[in-house]
Amino acid sequence: MKRFKFFLVAALATAAIVAFITATGDAQRRRAKEGEAGPSKTEVVEDALKTYVPPGDLDEYYVFLSGGHSGQIFVYGLPSMRHIRTIPVFGRYPATGWGYDNKSKEMMGGLTWGDCHHPGLSETKGLYDGRWLFINDNAGGRIARISLRDFECKQILGPLPNVAGNHASSFCTWNTEYLIGATRFSIPIPKGTVADVKDYKQKYKGVISATKVDPKDGTMSVAWQIVMPPWDYDLARAGKLVSGDWFFVTCYNSEAEFVDGKPLEITASERDKDFVIAVNWKGVEKEVEKGNVTEIGGAKVFDPVKTPGYVFAIPCKKSPHGVDVTPDGKYIVGSGKLAPVVSIFNFEKLLKAVQDKNFSGDDMGIPVVKAEAVQDAEIPVGLGPLHTVFDDKGFAYTSLFVESAVAKWQWQGGQQWQMVDKIPVQYNIGHIASPEGDTVKPLGHWVLALNKLSKGTHLNVGPHQPESLQLIDTSGPKMKLIYTAFPEPEPHYAQIIKADKLKDVVEVYKKEENKDPNATWDPKNARIERDGNTVKVWMTQIRSSIMPNVIRCNEGDNLIVYVTNIEEMRNELHGFGVCGYDVTGVPAPGATMTFEFVADKPGVWPYYCTNFCSALHQEMQGYLIVNPKQK
Ligand code: CUA
Repeated sequence: MKRFKFFLVAALATAAIVAFITATGDAQRRRAKEGEAGPSKTEVVEDALKTYVPPGDLDEYYVFLSGGHSGQIFVYGLPSMRHIRTIPVFGRYPATGWGYDNKSKEMMGGLTWGDCHHPGLSETKGLYDGRWLFINDNAGGRIARISLRDFECKQILGPLPNVAGNHASSFCTWNTEYLIGATRFSIPIPKGTVADVKDYKQKYKGVISATKVDPKDGTMSVAWQIVMPPWDYDLARAGKLVSGDWFFVTCYNSEAEFVDGKPLEITASERDKDFVIAVNWKGVEKEVEKGNVTEIGGAKVFDPVKTPGYVFAIPCKKSPHGVDVTPDGKYIVGSGKLAPVVSIFNFEKLLKAVQDKNFSGDDMGIPVVKAEAVQDAEIPVGLGPLHTVFDDKGFAYTSLFVESAVAKWQWQGGQQWQMVDKIPVQYNIGHIASPEGDTVKPLGHWVLALNKLSKGTHLNVGPHQPESLQLIDTSGPKMKLIYTAFPEPEPHYAQIIKADKLKDVVEVYKKEENKDPNATWDPKNARIERDGNTVKVWMTQIRSSIMPNVIRCNEGDNLIVYVTNIEEMRNELHGFGVCGYDVTGVPAPGATMTFEFVADKPGVWPYYCTNFCSALHQEMQGYLIVNPKQK
């Protein structure tokens, strides 16, 4: 009966979505066809001016979008919504040579894709400090760090031990002490252990992982982990100010079931409530220092069942997805994906409940806090709430996936916990972002809807349709949708930072800064040396020549080419591409890139500058002569 009810609800919800999407799409098509009046011309012009950034002028904000399974980060300007750059991270990117040169290949560790979900900007006292951007790889269980000094990936940590599906990542604690990571998929640990799903409840484990960030240079390392029941951990968020020593992680599948042949959507939706897990990370840190850990898979693993007092479960309706914390750190917002409400938990009440051991019992050893002791409100936002961001006026904005809308409600001031507005988006919004909207001081004015579907709201491009980004002006009493952009696949979440916080972005690497021992600064020193079967080439690039311009070698030789771009002017990029070989790269001015490959194809193979650089760009070429093996 219960299952039948679930199917009924699911079917009704699906029918409602389809009807809604069809109706809205049809309305637009009809309007276009019949030339029916939409918004007035004055209105259109007024809205257009809000996002228009004239040529030569600069945007007010940077938007860093995760690129989903493209494995990259996309940089946009706001309010113009113009795509400015792609920062390659987990995927190969011939446009810069990422994944083709030795350094990036080593960082990628043999994987040429990743699944980026949640970018996290480094924070100091709960404010973005403009130093680093962290990004998770859900698939590979990794975390990458990008320097905002040169917008380049500097480190890829992982695969993290014991972690499969690093989804609830990489959220910073409020002084970037740690990056939170938690497993969407539980597995038997350590990795490599085999146990059948028949033993799921007993032998599979969830893991919450804490990655330490060196405050000086940002170097990441695995600090410790918490072994958890085999629930599916979804999203996370660190506390701030009063709740700064804590972080919060949502979970679904608190049923702790995975049944061969039975869809998880059914088995994981049986309970009315799952959990927001509250972790006192300062406390766990102290226990780890005391040595209260077991080594599993090379990591220090803390068991909250053996050492209670730091990890608690708060019941939250139903299969919650996002968890967010209000700018003052006092309230935790759980978004119940399968319930039409967001649940508001009071942090001070949580502390009291923990102190008084006001528990309804435990679930697989994790104490469950009595919901009524900590829950302050339930806000009827609408269908399929996922994530919440904040503005500077005491309002919160929640994305509604099923309803394809954004709900606005008040979290601070007069109408606390009241809905105040709602606006439709096209279609099926996932994450939502606002300028510095997850910090202690959100800046307000804009909300960005990251929609999963775009359904014919653009010129037809075949079956692979883009997602959409929609910009909502929140400055007035009513929200207003004013712009749609279509990004590369497939942004999940974004961080939006005031542009003037990135003060020292470099455009040219100074010679002193280039520590590569094979950097060559004078074309006169460009040279080729043979050592057995290895041929080393020290190459220079400057407008408008590549030196050496002839490389002679034998079939089967191992070639190592050190390419230095010796330009000292901004934007003077040169490329190095070898015809017929999988070798390409674009060293920035002052940078050296190293390419290693086997000359396995005899013949004459031109190499050339791939990046347009000057009037004599076409002249930047040379020949790789590979003599065939003597038969
Ligand atoms: Cu150098 Cu084109």
